[in-house]
Amino acid sequence: MKKEKKKYILVANWKMYLSYYESISFCTVNRPTLTAIAQKHTLIFLPSFIALNAVANVLQETDSFYGAQNCSAFDSGAYTGDISASMLAEIGCSYCLVAHSERRRYYQETDEQIIHKLHLLIKAGIIPVFCIGEPKQEQDYRKIKDSLKKQLALFTAIPPQQHLLIAYEPNWAIGKGNEIFNDTYLNHLIKITKLINTCLSRFPNAKILYGGSIDELSIKQLLSINTFDGFLIGRASTTFSVFETIIKAL
Ligand code: PGA
Repeated sequence: MKKEKKKYILVANWKMYLSYYESISFCTVNRPTLTAIAQKHTLIFLPSFIALNAVANVLQETDSFYGAQNCSAFDSGAYTGDISASMLAEIGCSYCLVAHSERRRYYQETDEQIIHKLHLLIKAGIIPVFCIGEPKQEQDYRKIKDSLKKQLALFTAIPPQQHLLIAYEPNWAIGKGNEIFNDTYLNHLIKITKLINTCLSRFPNAKILYGGSIDELSIKQLLSINTFDGFLIGRASTTFSVFETIIKAL
């Protein structure tokens, strides 16, 4: 009997790479291919806020999803420049990133703000794509474990039936590209997925993604250990030919 192909979750985090028109063009030009991919995998696009509505329009009836890269830690009110989780829900966002290391690093986001965002997203019916990762490259697995356990503790008050995407993104691997993982690190990855599964065992609807320098080369290494439900792809998701090569490797 033919073995069923695994259905992966693919989150394209476009960060601030693609402009408004580039985002529309990416979806318009590649619409037929994206429709075909969305039959095999769960495809989620995270464009900039200003491109969300336009991307949503082009993606209609492609079976792909869209979401935001951030939301406010407040519900509503006098918070100039902020966009709330409920506003995102209003325009049909299904997903939103939380706790991305770039937000922690450049905007000093705190655990307290992250917990607020997490709860507001859940209240708005948006699935959080929650990022965790050790701040610096560690050889010692115990240090990685301690750091991840601390971050996963932020889920304490979340109801167990909640759908969650947990994106394990080691901070040192984000945005580098051409990352070749050594065997020690690949072994760490196997242990890390087990650890996340154990820490989140009360959430049957949690899925684990890997993120950080995914490209045509690293995807093969990640697939060789076969422990992830999907991938969070930054830079490589902004060039369609590269994104498609990654997907073809699945
Ligand atoms: P990268 O980014 O693929 O460009 O490393 C991943 C992310 O930060 O989400």
